[in-house]
Amino acid sequence: MAAIIDGAALARELAAEIAAEAAALAGAGVRPGLATVLVGEDYGARVYRRQIERTASELGLAYRDVTLPAAASAAEVMAAMRALAEDPAIHGVLPLRPMPPALPEADVLEAIAPAKDVDCLHPANVGRLMLGRPVLPPATPAACFELLERHLAAGGQDPRAWLQGREVVIIGRSNIVGKPAYLLALQRNATPTTVHSYTWRAGHLAAHTRRADVLIVAMGRPEFVTAEMVKPGAIVIDVGINSVPVTDAEGRPALDDRGRPRRRTVGDVAFDDVRRVAGAITPVPGGVGALTTVLLARNVVRACAAA
Ligand SMILES: NC(=O)c1ccc[n+]([C@@H]2O[C@H](COP(=O)([O-])OP(=O)(O)OC[C@H]3O[C@@H](n4cnc5c(N)ncnc54)[C@H](OP(=O)(O)O)[C@@H]3O)[C@@H](O)[C@H]2O)c1
Repeated sequence: MAAIIDGAALARELAAEIAAEAAALAGAGVRPGLATVLVGEDYGARVYRRQIERTASELGLAYRDVTLPAAASAAEVMAAMRALAEDPAIHGVLPLRPMPPALPEADVLEAIAPAKDVDCLHPANVGRLMLGRPVLPPATPAACFELLERHLAAGGQDPRAWLQGREVVIIGRSNIVGKPAYLLALQRNATPTTVHSYTWRAGHLAAHTRRADVLIVAMGRPEFVTAEMVKPGAIVIDVGINSVPVTDAEGRPALDDRGRPRRRTVGDVAFDDVRRVAGAITPVPGGVGALTTVLLARNVVRACAAA
């Protein structure tokens, strides 16, 4: 039975360290400040914004919510981005996605001041990451490696030595998770492989995943990865966050007190099934997601200290 890697516990531990650093900066006269930019009403983006706001407040960061209507013009959004780039009280800027399709997302990301780019979204920082130069690491893939390395260290391993030459398979190639996770694995001298929907369509997905010493799953497909896709003893990092209906024993939708369908959050990994074969696994909720906003806050504190 796999060990459970407790993201919530690690988040609490790191939060205490980051809050102390934020307090030291505030004591010296500069309170680290984070702004999110939300255009429109997307449900997932609003949930993420609330989590960021809560983390910022718990850690003593100043937080600014910039919300624009879905119909905002590109010029209005770019003006808001410019104002934040120039504002000395703001050290981190995060445009939330998805943005309305009419907006030029690439231009919005390019309008982040590179020094305030706390999720490694600006092309200059993506290039630096690719080249192995120092950057504020993208929060979600950084959370994957923080969990992995802390788990290894807790088991008495030297994480860097353990990862050298290991097979790290990443399902998903998004710009915010899959691709940077590949680069973070490569930086650690692991042997990363990226697989995606065309690997699956070609019928080759499980052949790759079964070779993985570390399997990072970021696909947005509820409980897709099952035990037969996982090498016995592998470490499984589940990035997915999916909302699915709760059903009763007969498969009918379960209802809450007000008669509405009940929903629950699951990852991209069939947790109970995979837990039987894996060596360690992150739960959802309480795994990668629990750590992401804390690492975002850490980047804000670092950006503030470097300003
Ligand atoms: N914990 C956190 O902090 C956090 C942060 C961000 C995202 N997430 C969650 O992580 C998940 C992934 O997010 P994302 O933004 O990376 O998603 P995304 O942009 O939708 O990318 C999904 C990736 O999965 C691949 N994929 C889809 N179906 C597949 C299949 N059957 N076999 C193999 N690969 C398949 C896609 O391949 P193609 O490229 O070929 O289409 C794509 O590369 C979502 O559940 C999201 O909610 C969590």
